[in-house]
Amino acid sequence: MALEFPIIFLLSTHLEAETLQRLEDEIPTLTYDINEAEVVLGNISRKQRALFELRKHKLETSEIPGSDDPTDSPRRKRVRTTAPADDVSDTASEAESEAGTKTTPVKPSASTVKVVKLSWFTDSQKAGKVLPLGGDYLLYEGRKVPKTPVKSPSLPRAEDVLKRAMADAAARPGARPSSSQGYGRQFIHRSSQPPMLRQTTTDDEVNKHLPPIPEYLHTTYSCQRPTPVHPPNEAFIEQLTKIRTARTLAGDQIGVRAYSSAIATIAAYPYTISSAQEVGRLPGCGNKIALLFQEFKETGEIQEAKEDESDPKLAVLRLFYEIWGAGETTAREFYNRGWRDLDDVIEYGWESLTRVQQIGVKYYDELQLKIPRAEVADIANTILKHANKIHKGFQMVIVGGYRRGKLESGDVDVVLSHPDDAATRNVVESIVVSLEEAKYITHTLILSTKNSERGQLPVSWKGNARKAGSGFDTLDKALVVWQDPKWATGESKNPNPHRRVDIIISPWKTAGCAVLGWSSGTTFQRDLRRYCKKERSLKFDSSGIRSRMDGSWVDLESGPNGEPAPDMLTAERRVFAGLGLGYRPPEERCTG
Ligand SMILES: *[C@@H]1O[C@H](CO)[C@@H](O)[C@H](O)[C@H]1NC(C)=O
Repeated sequence: MALEFPIIFLLSTHLEAETLQRLEDEIPTLTYDINEAEVVLGNISRKQRALFELRKHKLETSEIPGSDDPTDSPRRKRVRTTAPADDVSDTASEAESEAGTKTTPVKPSASTVKVVKLSWFTDSQKAGKVLPLGGDYLLYEGRKVPKTPVKSPSLPRAEDVLKRAMADAAARPGARPSSSQGYGRQFIHRSSQPPMLRQTTTDDEVNKHLPPIPEYLHTTYSCQRPTPVHPPNEAFIEQLTKIRTARTLAGDQIGVRAYSSAIATIAAYPYTISSAQEVGRLPGCGNKIALLFQEFKETGEIQEAKEDESDPKLAVLRLFYEIWGAGETTAREFYNRGWRDLDDVIEYGWESLTRVQQIGVKYYDELQLKIPRAEVADIANTILKHANKIHKGFQMVIVGGYRRGKLESGDVDVVLSHPDDAATRNVVESIVVSLEEAKYITHTLILSTKNSERGQLPVSWKGNARKAGSGFDTLDKALVVWQDPKWATGESKNPNPHRRVDIIISPWKTAGCAVLGWSSGTTFQRDLRRYCKKERSLKFDSSGIRSRMDGSWVDLESGPNGEPAPDMLTAERRVFAGLGLGYRPPEERCTG
């Protein structure tokens, strides 16, 4: 039976990515919004650190001396009231706003927050009960200073969102919340905005005017929904994507996951959103995203996204992050060494770069250029031709953004396979050599033959141990820099831009998984893996699917009598069917 934990915000500090992910999965009441947390859980041991973390997450509190007043249990149901606007001053505290006339009870609102050690959670798990939050576990307890919008951990109903929004608006008439009030950046409305939502409609009226949530949006798995490349709310999504990028660069993994989920949901929503409560009721969204929508609707932009765009530090991080072979961690490392542009990297850091990063810096500008569809197809066909020179009968699917219908791609991804198992084994090296000799490949960045070394078996599966980023290391592949060697006479130097190309080789028996794993948007893939794990006890990997029970390979691609799939796209459809998922054409997997 699930334990009744309070609402928990998990700090990523001092946690490895995989531990963080495991804990996120294990916490049944996880929130990504620290404002609504009753408990802030972290791998920390000192009060100083607890205070630092609260500051970092912009949650302002006043300390409650001593601890654990039983009458102030965060889970106590609280009656929120909507005071008439005039009766409440700008600096309305929670107490003041509760002094008004009675209204309906809403979801419990945590007015205090406790920062506790990670061991409280793990010990509770071990004990099979929720242990008291005091004693040695408790690092700090504070009362939240501003009243922040409250989101229930479950899917909020439209009327709840509206009620809370109205209560909120009433509590801060013409509010000018300053950061000293401790609002998270995302809650700050800098303009002198009108109350957030006017109290002119009743709940029923509001609900009547909201379009019904489509059936497929009741799931949290984006792999179960059609997500088009140009959804009706694209402009709003663009703003959220900017914020997510900033979170990525800041190393805020939890923020990235939260924004990714919200973006994937809104991208699958088939109507043009007209109100905040319409957003707030969608899975993965909630009040935070609803408020961002309100701001977007009123001003046409989101202040946080705009500030991120003009933030000089983020601009430098973005520049480094775009170096091929440098992730966000490397970008921060470069920044912390005091480097501010590519010249700094070349002058002060060249020797310390990996070979791949050196190539990424050398061709930085060219690799930023987008590749038109016709050229993507051209490059892919050249690769196929060379593969077929080595062994006739190869089949190919161009995957990545191209297959999802993008007009331009950042790189070229192709999956090659062959019905003869012997033909795919170790072929990646031969293909690279052939393309190098023909002068198409100028640099080979990564050449992986792990799959062939394993005997072309789906990647092994050892219990529940997680291996971060394992998914894409499992098929044979070559990541190369490509340049068309043909150019018009008259120029002394090849003017064709260098391109990034990924050649992926899959054995036939699991080609459907390879194509599926390499065709879909990032959040689609994340949710596909999560779906396989939670709903099917399977482990999805581009190199094949395995049972989480006994580690055995699960063949979803062969026909009823074990005969191999006739082609790679049929194999992919069979994977969908075998997983109990409706088929989604690649153009509907644009989750971002
Ligand atoms: C907590 O942090 C310490 C010190 O950084 C680290 O050694 C330990 O592995 C972390 N604990 C967990 C569960 O990740």
